[in-house]
Amino acid sequence: MWRIPARFWLVSSFLLAGMAFFCPAEAADATDDEFKALVDQDAKLIAKAVEAVDKATTAKDKKLVGKSAGSGIKSSAMIMAGYANARITGNPAVDGKAAAIRDEAIKIYKAAAEGNFKAAAEAAKGLADVKASANPKKIDLFKQFPTDVTSKDVMINFMKPAQYGTNVEADVIANGKKATAKPADVALIAHRLLAMGEYSKTIIKPVGAKDIAAWKEFNDKMISTTEALLATTKKKTTASDLAKAFTAVNASCVACHEDYKN
Ligand code: HEC
Repeated sequence: MWRIPARFWLVSSFLLAGMAFFCPAEAADATDDEFKALVDQDAKLIAKAVEAVDKATTAKDKKLVGKSAGSGIKSSAMIMAGYANARITGNPAVDGKAAAIRDEAIKIYKAAAEGNFKAAAEAAKGLADVKASANPKKIDLFKQFPTDVTSKDVMINFMKPAQYGTNVEADVIANGKKATAKPADVALIAHRLLAMGEYSKTIIKPVGAKDIAAWKEFNDKMISTTEALLATTKKKTTASDLAKAFTAVNASCVACHEDYKN
């Protein structure tokens, strides 16, 4: 009979423990369907925002609409770059497309920042059939955007559609009162918030060291409650438990806003 050296078992059990440790984190990545739906949401939001600028007739109106639509597009592009970049985990089946979408999102951000709405719209239109990137690598996203980007710039994506957002903030509040969102929609909300949580590790409001520690705690709480919310989409969950999960997320938003929002 073959004897397997003790060392083999030791190494294997380390490997298994390592896998068990890393797999839950991977489960937080968007599935193919979720990713497609997220990109579709952002593409539509961007198209609508550009249309609003086009429709403005007076120069004054164009400037006004351009400002809010531009902020909406930039925020949407940042969040899109975030959830796309997060998908790059060394899986050749998904990385190429994820990196390509991320790079388009960065282009869209730049176009909107330059007031080139036409270029932003063109890029958004092409998102659905963008060609996979040949050498996909996860990148440090913070370096892709201006250094003076604020938390508000990132979170505008959670405002109402009239403000060129995806309604996430209102959805979180409403579902905390009465949960009616379908699992597929809950997942999209969660992925957007997790992208924001990643940005909030670098894009921060406080200045002092003590404040920075508090900020990190607020952000960590937002991330952990959002991960719990995302987990509800993978198992049978009652409406009342779903409402509780949303309420916990909302409490984490409010806690940070109380201290840091103007
Ligand atoms: C770690 C802190 C922090 C957390 C957590 C946080 N936010 Fe924010 N949020 C901010 C700051 C700071 C601003 C910008 C305030 C300013 O400069 O006006 C902001 C702004 C916003 C805005 C922009 C529009 C506005 O009203 O000014 C929205 C929308 C928003 N947050 C939604 C959310 C939602 C939804 C959550 C929870 C899922 C959340 N935020 C969690 C810090 C946070």
